[in-house]
Amino acid sequence: MNDPSHIAQLDRASVLHPFTQLKDFATGKLGDPTIVEAASGIRITDVHGKTLIDGFAGLYCVNIGYGRTEVAEAISRQAHRLAYYHTYAAHTTDELAILSDRLVKMAPGRMSKVFYGMSGSDANETQAKLVWYYNNLRGLPKKKKIVSRQRGYHGCSVVSGSMTGMSFYHDHMDLPLPGIIHTGVPHHYWGAEAGETETAFSRRRAEELDRLIESEGPDTVGAFIAEPVLGTGGIIPPPAGYWPAIQAVLAKHDVLLIADEVICGFGRVGAAFGSHVYGMEPDLVTVAKGLTSAYFPLSAAIVGEKVYRVMEENADRIGAFSHGYTYSGHPIGAAAANAVLDIVAREDLAGKARDTGAYMQQRMRAVFAQLPFVGEVRGVGMLAAIEFVADRATKTRFDAGLKIGARVSKAARDRGLIARAMPHGDILGFAPPLITTRAEVDEIIDLAEKAVRQVMDEVAAAT
Ligand SMILES: Cc1ncc(COP(=O)(O)O)c(C=O)c1O
Repeated sequence: MNDPSHIAQLDRASVLHPFTQLKDFATGKLGDPTIVEAASGIRITDVHGKTLIDGFAGLYCVNIGYGRTEVAEAISRQAHRLAYYHTYAAHTTDELAILSDRLVKMAPGRMSKVFYGMSGSDANETQAKLVWYYNNLRGLPKKKKIVSRQRGYHGCSVVSGSMTGMSFYHDHMDLPLPGIIHTGVPHHYWGAEAGETETAFSRRRAEELDRLIESEGPDTVGAFIAEPVLGTGGIIPPPAGYWPAIQAVLAKHDVLLIADEVICGFGRVGAAFGSHVYGMEPDLVTVAKGLTSAYFPLSAAIVGEKVYRVMEENADRIGAFSHGYTYSGHPIGAAAANAVLDIVAREDLAGKARDTGAYMQQRMRAVFAQLPFVGEVRGVGMLAAIEFVADRATKTRFDAGLKIGARVSKAARDRGLIARAMPHGDILGFAPPLITTRAEVDEIIDLAEKAVRQVMDEVAAAT
């Protein structure tokens, strides 16, 4: 085995880590990198033998849990048989055709075709191009703007990073691009006026969207992109009535709906897709993460009948569809996805996420909702968040410098639990693998409770 300190040294010298304070890492202030060596079920083990419960399934992606050998075998079989061929100029592989048929049938809305990428970010980049292409082909060359939501997360590439509605993803990166605009976050806890019901708040958000489209000019707005349950921006389920109200506005202005199902897709919120839970009828659907449970990088932009029809009808005039990557529809990714989706179906992981998720939500609320410094406990299925506030009665946030979210996350980790300090606000996020049992949920909540109480005691002692 490689010497861990040598690996740490190589890493520090040569890896540019995403979302890592570069100087603190370079100078050693952050300590050594965590060298992850192995994983099984819901646990990962580092090179020193320390085991952690992965309460965030990597980055909400390892839905089937770690160490599923049948996926490893499917990948190996495919790599031995045919490690690669491209999908340009009508080439395909059996696994890819089977997967695509499966996705078109299981996805929400009336889907027609699947375009493959390697990440959620590039799939959303493709969605933007499809919106522009579609409206160019319809003779509506001005109808190109894309509306997303503040605190929505759609990726980090140039267009998807612009869709992302958090300023720290834009700062110093010359984003967002013009033509990508943001509307209000549907978070009742912070956004509602005194006494405003969820339904009334949803209606207000939909009216704001309507006014935004009117003021930009409906002939300039092509699409609205959103996660069914807002994820990285804070794990925020939509308030009652939100999606019907939003969809009515989109229909009124002939604006496409892109459902970014990168987190919600394939069972996480207790149904095959988040769109099914909330009655969404998207025109375009983005998937990644759970598609292969991260056993292989694979994403897809699933194209609805309405958009695809226009593309095909214009093909004689336009020529070939000029978009594609070397690795679009990679056969190993397709084999991994088929093996993963077999497990998701056979083990009814959506049903499991609904049942175990209901238990997790109820236990989270019972344990955390009444604690001082806890403003809100929220979530759906196997997605949950605890938001911390300095004063519950007045809903006053903690001073950002206290880094409460990060401290609770660290305290949990010191006890053996990975729960994510969400990047916006003092929020602790949970998204365990969908195979997590009730007993493991109890373990997660027990460790999280100890961590929360530790930090609360520290805060109380310092005031
Ligand atoms: C909803 C959503 N869309 C898109 C992305 C981007 O995916 P990737 O990191 O694979 O580019 C993410 C990643 O977390 C996501 O949560």
